[in-house]
Amino acid sequence: MAGSDYVRGDLLNLVVLMCYGLVGSNSDFFGRELFGVKTPYLWSRQSSDVTDLTSVQYNGQTCRAVYVDGLYRHGARYPLLKQINRMNELHRLLSGGNGIDPSVVDWVNAFKADKAAQLSALGQQEMVVLGERLGSRFQSLLSSEKDRINFYSSAKDRAKDSATYFQKGLGNTIGTNLSIPTTIDTLMLRFYDSCKLYNKIMDNEKTFEEYDKFLTGPEMTNVVTNVNNAVLRGHFNLTFEHVKIIQQICAFELAFFNTSDWCSYLSLADLEVIDYAGDIQSNKEGGYRHEITAQMSCPLLKHVLQQMDKVVTAQSDR
Ligand SMILES: *[C@@H]1O[C@H](CO)[C@@H](O)[C@H](O)[C@H]1NC(C)=O
Ligand SMILES: *[C@@H]1O[C@H](CO)[C@@H](O)[C@H](O)[C@H]1NC(C)=O
Ligand SMILES: *[C@@H]1O[C@H](CO)[C@@H](O)[C@H](O)[C@H]1NC(C)=O
Repeated sequence: MAGSDYVRGDLLNLVVLMCYGLVGSNSDFFGRELFGVKTPYLWSRQSSDVTDLTSVQYNGQTCRAVYVDGLYRHGARYPLLKQINRMNELHRLLSGGNGIDPSVVDWVNAFKADKAAQLSALGQQEMVVLGERLGSRFQSLLSSEKDRINFYSSAKDRAKDSATYFQKGLGNTIGTNLSIPTTIDTLMLRFYDSCKLYNKIMDNEKTFEEYDKFLTGPEMTNVVTNVNNAVLRGHFNLTFEHVKIIQQICAFELAFFNTSDWCSYLSLADLEVIDYAGDIQSNKEGGYRHEITAQMSCPLLKHVLQQMDKVVTAQSDR
């Protein structure tokens, strides 16, 4: 007997996503895990590198999985509308400069407003592979409990679509075409949206004091100088915000097209500094500093534990 319950979500959407750019020849960093949450899953994981763990040996005994729960983020998405707009603004600014790289002047933003924030083709493929991985890992459990699998998602299209493609991958490995309706539970999966205290803390500039300090410190100042020099010998006085947009275009284009001319403005060392800044920011947004960060996720944890309890009770009643 097993209960299988997949919670899918949009969990990390609160992070102002930072993407990490590339150096020199513009695909030197393709496939490398340098892009924080923007690193495509497929750059580091495939569906073939997992084995079935339904039954494992432990301390001389055979343990059999009876329940599995997964919490996933949506797959790769198109940039948000505000990111698309900022990319266009930066492009306009740079195109006005004499002697700017022709590949940048001629650049056409492939990310259009009508697709903003939607799951991309890469994201679809990622979710199929993630579904296949889970299916392979618990094949004997899941193929015998198909009727008891549940999906939950936030109301975001990218999250709902992710659930659909995940099912497709799962079905591929457990030998069935799944079409399980996804239950929308935004309160459970985007709890931070409705948590007033959390949002108050996020709106307080003091929360990001250390992050801001790093952005104006010597390491990041050096990165901004490097990028300015790479763009046009400092002519533009680009700020960190501009550098971040360059890095985002680089990261998104690499994920979508495997190449990006914008990556050539960034070095590996620059990239690592920006990556570190992103870690500081994520730590302020989702780390241990504020108790509310853990407290607001209680309904989600409660849901998981209740399902687990039900399965355990059913097992011991047998
Ligand atoms: C799933 O559906 C496709 C077409 O819709 C069909 O070709 C395939 O045989 C189905 N697979 C299973 C395992 O039912
Ligand atoms: C950049 O900054 C320097 C010194 O602060 C200033 O002289 C120059 O005019 C600025 N250039 C632009 C394009 O704003
Ligand atoms: C990007 O590279 C991957 C793997 O190297 C390949 O499968 C995919 O087709 C490429 N995509 C594009 C848009 O060239």
